[in-house]
Amino acid sequence: MVDRPVPADTSSDGPRALAHDEWPLLDHLVSTVFRPQMFHDYPQLFAPENRSNLRVVRDGDRLATHVGITVRPATLLGCAVTVACMGAVATAREARGRGYGSACVQDAFDHAASQGAHLMYISGGRDLYVRVGCREVGHDRTYEVVAPSGALDRLRRDGLRVVLAGPDDLPALAAIHEREAVRFIRPREDWTRAMACGIVMNTPSDFWAVDDGHGAIAYVVVHRPDRVRNRRPGDPSLLRVVECAGDRDAVAAAVTHLANHYGVAAVEVHVVASDVALARRLDGAGVAWRTEVTSGTVRVIDFPGLMDSARPLLAARLGDDFAAGLRFEADERPGSARGGFTVRHGAATIRIASHADLGPWLFGAPNNAFPAVEGDGTLAATLAGALPLPTLWYGLNYV
Ligand SMILES: CC(C)(COP(=O)(O)OP(=O)(O)OC[C@H]1O[C@@H](n2cnc3c(N)ncnc32)[C@H](O)[C@@H]1OP(=O)(O)O)[C@@H](O)C(=O)NCCC(=O)NCCS
Repeated sequence: MVDRPVPADTSSDGPRALAHDEWPLLDHLVSTVFRPQMFHDYPQLFAPENRSNLRVVRDGDRLATHVGITVRPATLLGCAVTVACMGAVATAREARGRGYGSACVQDAFDHAASQGAHLMYISGGRDLYVRVGCREVGHDRTYEVVAPSGALDRLRRDGLRVVLAGPDDLPALAAIHEREAVRFIRPREDWTRAMACGIVMNTPSDFWAVDDGHGAIAYVVVHRPDRVRNRRPGDPSLLRVVECAGDRDAVAAAVTHLANHYGVAAVEVHVVASDVALARRLDGAGVAWRTEVTSGTVRVIDFPGLMDSARPLLAARLGDDFAAGLRFEADERPGSARGGFTVRHGAATIRIASHADLGPWLFGAPNNAFPAVEGDGTLAATLAGALPLPTLWYGLNYV
């Protein structure tokens, strides 16, 4: 049974890949729905070589809907996975409510599955995604370093220089990034494009390198406080760290330096659950935090494939014999929004009812509120000891 919503209007063409002569039509659609700079602001998405990943519905002489994805390798504590990221989802105002958006979203999942993607990260959480099983996941933290708390002084470290990074610094920044244990694996072009356009996670951003006198040991990418979108006059100025990597003491010291540089009242740092070193450093300085999900929503594309890729991590956490005996099954084909999931170990079985539960079960949820699973209690408890899997943070990979 095909689970793709059928657009009500049968005169439409798609969902399918953008045709080579349809770039102007796509530019018109995303410029009208979002803003005219979309092609400039999302160069990973709107790149000629990414055309087959731009899924569209055409209606007459215009495009009615667009759903774009990028597909990148990533590493989760050494386990190699393939991750699709979805963004710039748009239907022309007059074509909304006809099912085009839903059809194009499912087509993007199917297309990502055909490329071997295990996971879809979606830069949004509206009904269009939640209705088909995409969920907020992760149990990250947002730290807010407030100037009067004294924490900025406690994060200071002497002997470091924080310098604006330019194109010549990209190899050094990329080398720092490639030593991170949980990250997207970026082709060089992603770095070059991000720095050339200066937009990271939808906002004009600055790249800063932290140098200890022998070279860069960390970097921090921040939203420019004066360019944050939808900021109202009178809002306290806030500096948002949207990506960091390398020596965590140096990252923390950069926060102090940059708070002074931009003259902000507070600095916000999103710390993923696996980044224990940065959390410890900020905790040690008495910085307050709130629990946080990772950005947007997530849906698993290929559960058996994902778990086979994560098997080395499961073996590290549960033992090789046990991990080797685990079997992972999905009721439906990769990419489907439907069905439940089964984990077997010998005669023991557990069931995860749907995508709505699968994402939070695998990747955690705020306050570690894991969904209940049905079946063998011992197997469920054993697996709970190996979860959650680490979540990725978009940073430069945001689309
Ligand atoms: C979001 C957007 C792309 C939806 O496109 P669309 O072609 O109208 O999508 P559909 O017709 O498939 O669905 C419209 C709504 O009905 C809902 N819907 C679709 N089928 C449904 C069903 N069978 N039962 C209940 N609800 C249903 C969808 O979830 C969606 O809800 P939402 O708009 O609250 O998210 C469009 O409204 C848009 O371009 N908005 C502005 C840009 C934007 O916000 N993009 C998303 C960024 S995260």
